[in-house]
Amino acid sequence: MTIIFNGEQLAQQKAVGLKKKVAIYQAKGIHPKIAAIFFQEDQASAMYTTKKSQMANELGIAYQVKSFSFLSNLQEIQLYIRSLNADSSVTGIIIQKPWTSKWLEVVGKGKNDSTADFNAWWQALVSQIATKKSHGINKDVDGLTKETLNAIKEGTWMEKQMVLPATVRAVLSILKDYRLHIDPTFSYLSEKVLIIGQSDLLGRPLYWHIKNLMQKGIVIPQNFGEACQIAAANMQTSDKKCEVKLVGKKGLDKLIEQKKSLSEFRVIISATGQKNLISGALIAPHSVLIDVGEPQGDIDLVSCLNKADFITPVPNGVGPMTVISLMANALDLLKIEDLTMTGAK
Ligand SMILES: NC(=O)c1ccc[n+]([C@@H]2O[C@H](COP(=O)([O-])OP(=O)(O)OC[C@H]3O[C@@H](n4cnc5c(N)ncnc54)[C@H](OP(=O)(O)O)[C@@H]3O)[C@@H](O)[C@H]2O)c1
Repeated sequence: MTIIFNGEQLAQQKAVGLKKKVAIYQAKGIHPKIAAIFFQEDQASAMYTTKKSQMANELGIAYQVKSFSFLSNLQEIQLYIRSLNADSSVTGIIIQKPWTSKWLEVVGKGKNDSTADFNAWWQALVSQIATKKSHGINKDVDGLTKETLNAIKEGTWMEKQMVLPATVRAVLSILKDYRLHIDPTFSYLSEKVLIIGQSDLLGRPLYWHIKNLMQKGIVIPQNFGEACQIAAANMQTSDKKCEVKLVGKKGLDKLIEQKKSLSEFRVIISATGQKNLISGALIAPHSVLIDVGEPQGDIDLVSCLNKADFITPVPNGVGPMTVISLMANALDLLKIEDLTMTGAK
């Protein structure tokens, strides 16, 4: 029988612990505040921002929102981000990444703008977010900056007191929950894991993080917070041959062509936005399938039912967990000594 994950339910359970933690911070005079920026032409960004703002309100985290247009002057947006860096009441900054195609639709009208232009525009924005190196304080609450991504690649993000992108944290939380509540013998670190989609928001950092854990192992400070506990909970020695593979479109086509299916992978995490990319015919029995695609799922739920052990649906899978993971990140960014608090899990 396939277990269908309930993202809303787990997110609400986590919200209870986070709410207590926020109250403890507030009693100490520490007030987490996320400043969010989104682009009004991208309706999905507006919708995610509303959901994040609602959850923040529920937990007692301040959530300040400002929207721009794709056509807004770049320097004006950069200036605004720099003002957030200088504002000591802001403890985390998130820029909601729009769809490349939406940006090209609006900005590229009548011109030759390409994905490379979009990437340059995006980097020009995220590079403004304060990090320890640039400003002596880390406000990168969604793991968007090159500095955070490099630290994830090197396996040093924990010791540098950085946080993983919220979607990466969401996926790891779901895998941890599967192990804790459904199958105690499961650990993704002892399995063959396939990640489809190689964006900086999910695929690449998730791949680096898992690869580091599988290859080197990471020393996890005892009191660093939930992200470390997730890693620890998933660490288990095993004789099984583990592997993590990251593919984009070409890589997936090649894998399917060569092997005719993806049946060598027990865990498949897909983040492409391509509807029903993964069907039941491609997967192995007892697979663990994590669908990050939105607004429609990458995984064809119907054909995978009764073959996979576990599937995260769309909606109500990774989405609500990403929202709650952003809130957990916001708390992890606060002073490290405060993360040792007990009774707030
Ligand atoms: N649930 C959440 O919280 C959450 C958070 C963030 C994103 N998302 C969703 O995740 C999806 C991806 O977002 P993104 O920002 O990562 O997008 P992105 O930057 O556009 O990346 C898409 C990736 O998918 C790959 N891809 C596209 N078509 C493919 C195919 N037919 N076969 C295999 N790979 C294919 C691309 O491969 P190439 O590299 O070869 O081009 C690329 O690596 C979207 O649906 C987005 O809405 C969900």
